[in-house]
Amino acid sequence: MSAQSDLVDLFAPGTTVVDGELVIAGVPASQLAAEFGTPAYVIDEGYLRARVCAYRDGLATRWPNSRVYFASKSFPSTPVYRVMAEEGIGVDVAGGGEIVMALAGGVPGADLLLHGNAKTDDELRLALGAGVGLIVIDNFHDIERIDALAESPVDVLVRVRPNVGAETHTAMATATDASKFGLRLDDAREATRRIEASTTMVMKGLHVHVGSQILQAAPFAEAIAAIGSLGEFEIYDLGGGLGERYTYSDPELSLDDYLDAVVGAAHAALPASARILLEPGRSLVARAGCTLYEVVNVKESDSPLAPTFVAVNGGMADNLEVSLYGQRFEATVVDAVGGGQPVTLVGRHCESGDMLSEGVLLQHPEAGDIVAVPVTGAYCFTMSNNYNGALRPPVVFVSGGHARAVVRRETFEDLRARDVLI
Ligand SMILES: Cc1ncc(COP(=O)(O)O)c(C=O)c1O
Repeated sequence: MSAQSDLVDLFAPGTTVVDGELVIAGVPASQLAAEFGTPAYVIDEGYLRARVCAYRDGLATRWPNSRVYFASKSFPSTPVYRVMAEEGIGVDVAGGGEIVMALAGGVPGADLLLHGNAKTDDELRLALGAGVGLIVIDNFHDIERIDALAESPVDVLVRVRPNVGAETHTAMATATDASKFGLRLDDAREATRRIEASTTMVMKGLHVHVGSQILQAAPFAEAIAAIGSLGEFEIYDLGGGLGERYTYSDPELSLDDYLDAVVGAAHAALPASARILLEPGRSLVARAGCTLYEVVNVKESDSPLAPTFVAVNGGMADNLEVSLYGQRFEATVVDAVGGGQPVTLVGRHCESGDMLSEGVLLQHPEAGDIVAVPVTGAYCFTMSNNYNGALRPPVVFVSGGHARAVVRRETFEDLRARDVLI
């Protein structure tokens, strides 16, 4: 493999290099930058849809009584909800805003699955009013609140925390005893008893989510075995968590290998008649997206402690994965793809921790160059913010050589839209 093909491999599969330039779903990256400005989130829509279908059909082939729900916290945007609705998968929501956007995107209320470790009464009312398909009980308080609010019986799952860890950032491990999410096995048994005694909830099954950015199969199988020990239910929601390759050194756990492992563990531990749900977020959307930036300046190394800093017109306002989880990203100048000298790609925000990638290889970066960072389709848009008054970037869908903005760039007027007193 050449440095160039290693780099291109990280982007969505429709990405190529033509006449030395990166081309995303048929459109040159420089053309996208010129038309939509930078920073911009660029999504290969064809790949996104293909990935949703691969998940949906891959699970259905292995376990026909099943459904995939998009964990929409990874990319909560109305056009993305619309894609999920059109491709026929359900949607996991974890807040009022996600419910509103999902409904606006055409997701039927019955296809929503509501999560949250601190669901408010307003959110529960909103979900119940929309005819939510499933509510995942996180704690005993949820049971009391639904008892008080539901006017007709609603189907529920109980979220279990079976003390299963995984090799990932601690902030992304959600099934250990240290996690704030869900109930330990003995408490889950008690929650099940209370729900079965209630007239407002129908106890449908169990939920477990090991964590995020997991590239080993074993923790998923361990968690499935643990919830299997709690008895026989109609539904088992096995969460999300499959990781994505962000860097050259990341191993790959392919979708097929992941589904084989999960379904193999389900065959061993769960009733054959059960319905299985999966809730992928990152592994549905991450690779479909990349971010385009413009280089603002290059500060050559001036001491043994300082690398060469290449500063772009974005950073931690559009990508918090680096400072929150230490996630490593690769990057390339779009008309000099792959290879180059190690530099530190930094953002424009007032924090030394505002880095996009340390020691990343770039070919002769200069002010005005367009740089693309792959694998930014998950958890970047959703955590984008206005640090230093940054305007949140547009979302551009590209497909078959055509590009369109499906979310426009924020404006200075938007920044002031909520001001009440001036
Ligand atoms: C309950 C639940 N399900 C699914 C997901 C999606 O995880 P991922 O994006 O790693 O697939 C998350 C996110 O951590 C989650 O909290």
